[in-house]
Amino acid sequence: MISDRKDDHVRFAAEQQRHLEGYNQFDDVSFIHHALAGIDRSDVSLATRFGGIEWKVPLYINAMTGGSAKTGAINRDLAIAARETGVPIATGSMSAYFADESVADTFSVVRRENKDGFIIANVNANASVERAQRGIDLLQADALQIHLNVIQETVMPEGDRSFSSWAPQIEMIAAGVDVPVIVKEVGFGLSGETISLLAELGVCVADVAGRGGTNFAHIENDRRDHADYSYLNGWGQSTPACLLDAQGAGIPVLASGGVRSPLDVVRGLALGAAAVGVSGGFLRTVLDGGVPALISQISAWLDQVEALMTALGARTPSDLTQCDVLVRGDLRAFCADRGIE
Ligand code: FNR
Repeated sequence: MISDRKDDHVRFAAEQQRHLEGYNQFDDVSFIHHALAGIDRSDVSLATRFGGIEWKVPLYINAMTGGSAKTGAINRDLAIAARETGVPIATGSMSAYFADESVADTFSVVRRENKDGFIIANVNANASVERAQRGIDLLQADALQIHLNVIQETVMPEGDRSFSSWAPQIEMIAAGVDVPVIVKEVGFGLSGETISLLAELGVCVADVAGRGGTNFAHIENDRRDHADYSYLNGWGQSTPACLLDAQGAGIPVLASGGVRSPLDVVRGLALGAAAVGVSGGFLRTVLDGGVPALISQISAWLDQVEALMTALGARTPSDLTQCDVLVRGDLRAFCADRGIE
């Protein structure tokens, strides 16, 4: 049952958040401190523009859920927090809706609770143009995400085994729907080569969704008694590695995967992301503390991102790319192996 799987994903992902290591590759990125670089807070704007999209803030709630009663309630809570803080929000994959229209409300609740917000629908790369547009219409969505999850499918016994249609299907969806198309991974990262290919396919924006946070190889292995693919738990590229790899790939990029703090948001923006997304961390907050806790977390993050930009002398999110950044450790080794300057 798809709805059981959705409930499992939420349960396992929230549990995983409690056991994440302290370190991830965002820690290999640090700013050179220039003590006289600071500007006036009133000169800082959080607004960001990329790929035909304009947001007031460079932070969003990334795709998670919908498709069961429990996950519909979570979508409602996430949508209220998005409305109260002004951050864009994506729903989870709408496959459950295409399979059974009776779960429509577990997705459309996001628009009902957040009438004026920026909402992103989410489909898999096998979706027909007609289904993708139906998902957009249900949410009156402002953009569409297509997720690439080949490793997750591989680990799932019931998962897809045919992936060659994905690229041509993405090209058809990008040409056929009436909103900007964002292609994202689900926590294993997008390589520079993949992002260049997405640009050729007509995709507006790529969300790297790299390693470092929610790990679907781990989740799918944990969901069953025999973890046949546990050796894939470390697969993929980290989010900062993807951002460095994406330079010059041809379309704007978003950063998500393992974002833990306002400092990680600012690091992601400094490495070239137009905005930064969070899934697992915000899920944990809303499950533990409800809507008030998530509103106060997102508000504090936005306030602190603005404070850090002020200290770093960045008037806009894209100004952060001009800051002096040091790359060390495993991330530096990745850059050397890939020939990234
Ligand atoms: C996800 N993610 C996800 N992505 C997607 O495109 N469609 C989906 O349906 C889902 N479902 C989903 C469920 C749950 C419970 C979680 C936590 C995540 C992946 C998500 O959008 C993101 O790419 C990864 O979770 C990495 O970001 P974090 O969690 O490390 O911030």
